[in-house]
Amino acid sequence: MKTYNLCLLGFGNVGRALARLLVEKSDELRGEFGVAWRVTGVASRRLGWLCAPGGYAAAELIAGKVAQRATPAPRDVREWLGAARADVLFETTPLEPLTGRPAVEHCRAGLEAGAHVVTANKGAVVHGLGELRQLAGARKRQFLFESAVADCLPVFSLFRECLPAARLLSFTALLNSTTSVIFEELERGRTFEEGVARARELGITETDPSYDVDGWDAAVKVCALANVLMGASLKLEEIERVGIRELDVRAVREAAEAGRPFRLLSRAERTADGSAKASVKPEQIAPDDPLANLAGSSLAINFKLDVLEGLTVTAREPNLRSTAYGLLADFVNAARAERRAAEQAGEREGQ
Ligand SMILES: NC(=O)c1ccc[n+]([C@@H]2O[C@H](COP(=O)([O-])OP(=O)(O)OC[C@H]3O[C@@H](n4cnc5c(N)ncnc54)[C@H](OP(=O)(O)O)[C@@H]3O)[C@@H](O)[C@H]2O)c1
Repeated sequence: MKTYNLCLLGFGNVGRALARLLVEKSDELRGEFGVAWRVTGVASRRLGWLCAPGGYAAAELIAGKVAQRATPAPRDVREWLGAARADVLFETTPLEPLTGRPAVEHCRAGLEAGAHVVTANKGAVVHGLGELRQLAGARKRQFLFESAVADCLPVFSLFRECLPAARLLSFTALLNSTTSVIFEELERGRTFEEGVARARELGITETDPSYDVDGWDAAVKVCALANVLMGASLKLEEIERVGIRELDVRAVREAAEAGRPFRLLSRAERTADGSAKASVKPEQIAPDDPLANLAGSSLAINFKLDVLEGLTVTAREPNLRSTAYGLLADFVNAARAERRAAEQAGEREGQ
């Protein structure tokens, strides 16, 4: 059984939830999937590039209390990945919507160091997809990002594994939980600021919540979905983006009372030139819409395929644990792909 050296870059809400979930599911991963692991690197802006070549103890990971055990201490991401002998890099630094930096650089460094890269950072997908996929292919590693768009909702793997040759024509989606929570709080008579505070409490806002409120988070997600699932080449600036800041609170409450509440809706549609057009804006949701009646942080995507008019996937009230699970599932899938490749190489040698 291979023991994977895991490196966590970003040790905030998501990175810590992942560390806890790895510990919780450790026996299951070993017993059912033949995957063992130890965390040999943890890094964040404040912590620096921490490394423990022998692995951190479960108790340290659960408590989030990890210390430097490498001498000399690594000074940058490349030295860190080398000192930690990384097999898998989990990238969970904050979204930077306009450039995807430094997440793209981190992912590049991970692949170049020979590690699989798993990220929850959609900026890396939108700004680095082509390059990082190519690099992963050349190094026979995986670049996976299931948690980046809708927490652990298995969207990319759904298309990759279950829908071969199906053509995605369009989709409508609720992709940003923070704005849904804010709308709900407004509908309950609370203020905009109280809504943001509630979302923060749940740990679901972007590090800078204005990225949620102004529609950046949803725009990056819709861009990632269209580019990966439709093979489009949409750029972020081509997406029509309207945030929720300017909405009149009275209109929000009246819409909810009338049974057609406002939510921040994302849409994309394939265009004749092989790309896509997309928008993110507050819209009212009719009671018979597949995206209606979703509470709190729930996320959903309604796909229209050439072979199926309506396919809706929904995550009811996902939380940090769900996001962490998406990262963990990507890890298991990367390990499975590595094992399959090794078996195939063995078969070829045996022929
Ligand atoms: N929270 C969610 O529900 C959720 C769901 C899906 C996807 N995501 C995505 O997951 C990522 C992380 O979200 P989060 O909620 O965990 O954010 P967070 O709590 O703000 O944590 C971000 C972490 O990244 C570290 N960091 C920031 N800049 C860095 C840099 N330049 N180099 C190294 N480390 C750096 C921070 O370090 P310091 O604390 O030391 O500054 C912190 O440890 C984001 O891309 C987000 O879009 C989040």
